[in-house]
Amino acid sequence: MKICMIGTGYVGLVSGSCFADLGNTVLCVDKDVNKIKKLNNNEIPIYEPGLEEIVLKNFKSGRLKFTSNLSSAVKSSDIVFICVGTPTAKNGSANLKYVYEATKEISKNINKFKIIVNKSTVPVNTGDEVEKIILRRVNRKKFEVISNPEFLREGDAIRDFRFPDRIVVGTNNKLVLKIFKRIYEPLIKKGATFFSTNRRGAELIKYAANAFLATKISFINEIANLCEKTGVNVEDVAVGIGLDKRIGSRFLRAGPAYGGSCFPKDTRAITITAKKYKTNLSIINSVIKSNNNRINLLRKRVEKILLNKVKNKRITFLGVTFKANTDDMRGSTSLSMIPALNKMGAKIRYYDPTGEKKIFSNLKNVECSKNISFACYKTDLIIIHTEWDEFKSIDFKKISGKKSIKIFDMRNLYSTKDMKKKGIFYFSIGR
Ligand code: NAD
Ligand code: UGA
Repeated sequence: MKICMIGTGYVGLVSGSCFADLGNTVLCVDKDVNKIKKLNNNEIPIYEPGLEEIVLKNFKSGRLKFTSNLSSAVKSSDIVFICVGTPTAKNGSANLKYVYEATKEISKNINKFKIIVNKSTVPVNTGDEVEKIILRRVNRKKFEVISNPEFLREGDAIRDFRFPDRIVVGTNNKLVLKIFKRIYEPLIKKGATFFSTNRRGAELIKYAANAFLATKISFINEIANLCEKTGVNVEDVAVGIGLDKRIGSRFLRAGPAYGGSCFPKDTRAITITAKKYKTNLSIINSVIKSNNNRINLLRKRVEKILLNKVKNKRITFLGVTFKANTDDMRGSTSLSMIPALNKMGAKIRYYDPTGEKKIFSNLKNVECSKNISFACYKTDLIIIHTEWDEFKSIDFKKISGKKSIKIFDMRNLYSTKDMKKKGIFYFSIGR
């Protein structure tokens, strides 16, 4: 199959290169010419484990190409995936500007029958709008708009694409469904469930899935708050409830507020969709509130650990990305915690395996350290913010250069008992 991905970001690049790896010819398009230039020079613009190898292999074989020429890419493809961003608009809804812009461009280049696939996360009914836009120029018989939401996680994106739990396709067109089963056949053979429904159903499944996962995280985070007051270990509670197959053990890790480019934006967007249809998603509204409160709660916890004397204190952040194994800063709790503590007079040092972050470069007294030791040396408080593997066995006594070491571990990477034995003042989440 000849496939074209419009948008070569986290989703477009990962799924495009994985589709190429399954034997398809894939053209990845992006309007960001720098990104395309980098990719054509074998430079990978994002940090995603395992991605470089797949991109290089398929680029060399000629199955994977990168271009800014949307017109010729669409013309020469049978299937066009829309993978552009759907960020949060001012009112909290999904901003569909990029989806509609891409659609208009696609509609100008439909020279033979094409399947237009929405892989971007879009509110229920967007497929209908996309179809209307194309119908302004193109005969109904020449295209089909379907929904095929993406469920990959950053940091685990390659594995998630290759071994998904399910593939959801939203269309009533039997021929298109057959083609899609064929495209995904290698993944279905390895155990993925292929589930088809109508287009709107698929669109809503994506939001419902993200909102449910966000709910699970907020739930365990609130239970963690109770554990802290009652002397219970939240990890025991997570295991104890997760063993019930109706609940399931995954996504029950208590930590900082959930972040990333999707949970915060998608939970908000679905509540706006619900408003439009005069429905109150009160549970999701509470989850959003709980998650926002958590950011303040954690900041207050930092203040308490520093005995309410934040001014002139040196605070170290180990990790600033929203999770490990990604360079993505979107929706990271560090984005609000670092400026807030900085404003209170703290001097912040941070180290992240994916390097310096432009977003902090204008803040006075916020600096990036080149390694863990530099970051932790003679600091007043170490905050383990992101669960990178390299933070899991640090000899804090050796590197801190101080007698009294304080650590706030927001990812529970260490044992309270071991830390106590070492004489470290150790604070964690929900235990
Ligand atoms: P991204 O910002 O990393 O990438 C989007 C890319 O689209 C950008 O490179 C941008 O330049 C390009 N683009 C925008 N308009 C274009 C146009 N008209 N022509 C060509 N290129 C264009 O976004 P992302 O994280 O890959 O997310 C894309 C969509 O997938 C969003 O709807 C998101 O919610 C959804 N999603 C993301 C993830 C994830 O882990 N990031 C997972 C599942 C679903
Ligand atoms: C999430 C979903 O997991 C994907 O299925 C979905 O495709 C994607 O959003 C999307 O729509 O973009 P992602 O945001 O990449 O993926 O990462 P997650 O692993 O889900 O983590 C999201 C946030 O939740 C992070 O801040 C993470 O630290 C937090 N989290 C996750 C927890 O606090 N506890 C957990 O047990 C799991």
